[in-house]
Amino acid sequence: MQRILAVIFFLVVFLQHQSQAQCNSTNCVEPACKCMNTSPPGAQLVFLAFDGAITVTNYSNYTFLLNNIINPNGCPSGMTFFVYHEYNDYTLTHSLYFKRNEISTHSMSHSTPSSDWAYKSVSEWTDEIGGIQEALAKFANIPKAEIWGARAPFLQSSGDDTFTAMKNLGMYYDCSFPTTENTNPPIWPYTLDQGFQHECTIPPCPKDKYPGIWTVPMMAV
Ligand SMILES: *[C@@H]1O[C@H](CO)[C@@H](O)[C@H](O)[C@H]1NC(C)=O
Ligand SMILES: *[C@@H]1O[C@H](CO)[C@@H](O)[C@H](O)[C@H]1NC(C)=O
Ligand SMILES: *[C@@H]1O[C@H](CO)[C@@H](O)[C@H](O)[C@H]1NC(C)=O
Repeated sequence: MQRILAVIFFLVVFLQHQSQAQCNSTNCVEPACKCMNTSPPGAQLVFLAFDGAITVTNYSNYTFLLNNIINPNGCPSGMTFFVYHEYNDYTLTHSLYFKRNEISTHSMSHSTPSSDWAYKSVSEWTDEIGGIQEALAKFANIPKAEIWGARAPFLQSSGDDTFTAMKNLGMYYDCSFPTTENTNPPIWPYTLDQGFQHECTIPPCPKDKYPGIWTVPMMAV
């Protein structure tokens, strides 16, 4: 069974303002750093993201979306696939990459029970995220440096241990932390230079600072 999470941000045009006491334009300069902010920088950002194995059964559904969703400016759309290893078809994964989709990590094992993921160590997370990154690089022939996103299995991270592994692996962003409090407008993606800033819906959430690593808060629809 594949889980589908479409992450949608409806964003209206607003002047950006800096409201965080501990994060401001002095200590956080774009594009390397971005404060958590509920006033979006004047755009609409929609992520179409799918979790799990890319299989023959589903492939035509993905290409159908790819061929039929066009951005308002006429440019073709892309999707993000958070891939795990079991049943994943690496040839089809390469095809989706070749068609300009983003291929990201969702762990090697995706093991159950889901609650176990809250207690995994840095080295276990390094094996899980780094393992699927290696597998995708090797078997789907995707440059390792382009596999830079992570989503925790069942959206259950272990907070700092997950982010420390991501940092060690050079990952660029996480997409595992939903928001239910900040939905109108939703939070724009931000970096963890000043730590995790929005409400923690699935604890544990990271407590340390991770300069340059983004989190993409999401609303499941
Ligand atoms: C930015 O934050 C730092 C640390 O909290 C503070 O010392 C500084 O005065 C702030 N700067 C502005 C422009 O608000
Ligand atoms: C992918 O296949 C699974 C199992 O057949 C199905 O439950 C799921 O809805 C499919 N996903 C899409 C996007 O069609
Ligand atoms: C997925 O593709 C299959 C085979 O083409 C089709 O029968 C099914 O309706 C599609 N599902 C969705 C959700 O588009």
